[in-house]
Amino acid sequence: MTEVLVIGGKGQLGTDLLRALAARGTEAVGLDLPDIDVGDAARTRAQLLELRPAVVINTAAYHLVDLCEDHAAEAFAINAEAPRQLAKVCRELDAVFMHFSTDFVFGGAPCGRPWTEGDRPEPQSVYATSKLAGEHLVRESHDKHFVIRTCGLYGSAGRRPQGGSFVEIMIRAAEAKKKLTVVNDQTVAPTSTFELAAALLALIETRAYGLYHVTNSGECTWFEFAREIFRLTGMTPDLRPVTSAEYGSKAKRPRYSILDNAKLVAAGVPALGSWQQALAAYVARRGQEVRA
Ligand SMILES: NC(=O)c1ccc[n+]([C@@H]2O[C@H](COP(=O)([O-])OP(=O)(O)OC[C@H]3O[C@@H](n4cnc5c(N)ncnc54)[C@H](OP(=O)(O)O)[C@@H]3O)[C@@H](O)[C@H]2O)c1
Repeated sequence: MTEVLVIGGKGQLGTDLLRALAARGTEAVGLDLPDIDVGDAARTRAQLLELRPAVVINTAAYHLVDLCEDHAAEAFAINAEAPRQLAKVCRELDAVFMHFSTDFVFGGAPCGRPWTEGDRPEPQSVYATSKLAGEHLVRESHDKHFVIRTCGLYGSAGRRPQGGSFVEIMIRAAEAKKKLTVVNDQTVAPTSTFELAAALLALIETRAYGLYHVTNSGECTWFEFAREIFRLTGMTPDLRPVTSAEYGSKAKRPRYSILDNAKLVAAGVPALGSWQQALAAYVARRGQEVRA
C-alpha cells in the first residue's frame, strides 16, 4: 500500500510535495502524464485501486487560463469532472483527497479585505468557473477532502520547458533582452510551492477536512513581483507597468486575489512567510541548482 499518491508529480507543486514527503521519509508515488491521465476516469480508478494510497493529492489541472475560454469542455473535464471521479474513488478506498482551486474564483469587485473561505465566489472566466465547479463536486463526493485555494504559484519545476512559472518567464525574457510589460492593477500573493508543500502536509495531519486558503503572506501587483525578481537576481531589463486593459488578455483576471489564511492557522498550521522572503529563498536555491 502506498502512503501518498501525488498526481501531477512533475509539476511545480507536485515536485515540491514529493520532495517534502521524501524528506519526511513518507512513502510516496508521483504520477504524471502520460502514465496517468485524470481525464481517463476508468484507467485512473484502476490505477488507484491497485496502489491503494491512504492520501491522494491531485495537482493536475487544465490551467492555461486564456486557452480555457475556447476549450470549456476540456477545462471542465480536467478541473471539475476528473476531481469528482478522484474524490469518488478516494471515498471507495477511504483515502484522504486533497485538491486545488484558485484565487481566480474571486473575480468580482474587491471587498476591501482579504477573501475568506466564507466569501461568495464570483468567477469571471471559464477557467475560474471550472475550478469552482471542481470544488463543489469534490465537496459533495467525499467527506475526507481538503480543497485548497492558492495563488501565483512558482517552484523549481517551473524551469521545465513545458513549465513556465511567472518567475522563470521573467528571467528567461530578461536573459533574451526582451522589453517587458507587466500588469500593475492586479494584486496577488505570489506563493512558493516549496513553502506551500510543507504547509499542506501539516494540514493533512490535522484531519480537519474542508476548504482552505493557503498562500504566502503579503501582497503585490504582478509588476511589483517582477521588479523584486529582478532586484534579487541583479538583472536590469526594460520593465514597464501596464493596465490589464492595455495588456489585453483574453480571459478576465481578478483585480484583488488576496486570500485570508486565518482558517489554516486556526487549524494549527503556522502561517506561511512573506512573499518577499519566499522569493529570496527560491532565487538562492535556484542559483545553487543552476550551478550544480
Ligand atoms: N500555477 C498557479 O499560479 C496556480 C495558482 C492557483 C492555483 N493553482 C492550482 O494549483 C494546482 C497545481 O498547480 P501547478 O502550478 O503545480 O501546476 P503544474 O506545474 O502545471 O503541474 C500540474 C501537473 O499536472 C500534469 N497534468 C496536466 N493534465 C493532467 C492530466 N490530465 N492527468 C495527469 N496529469 C496532468 C501537468 O502535466 P503537463 O505539464 O504535461 O501538462 C503537470 O505536470 C493546480 O490545480 C492549479 O490549478 C495554480
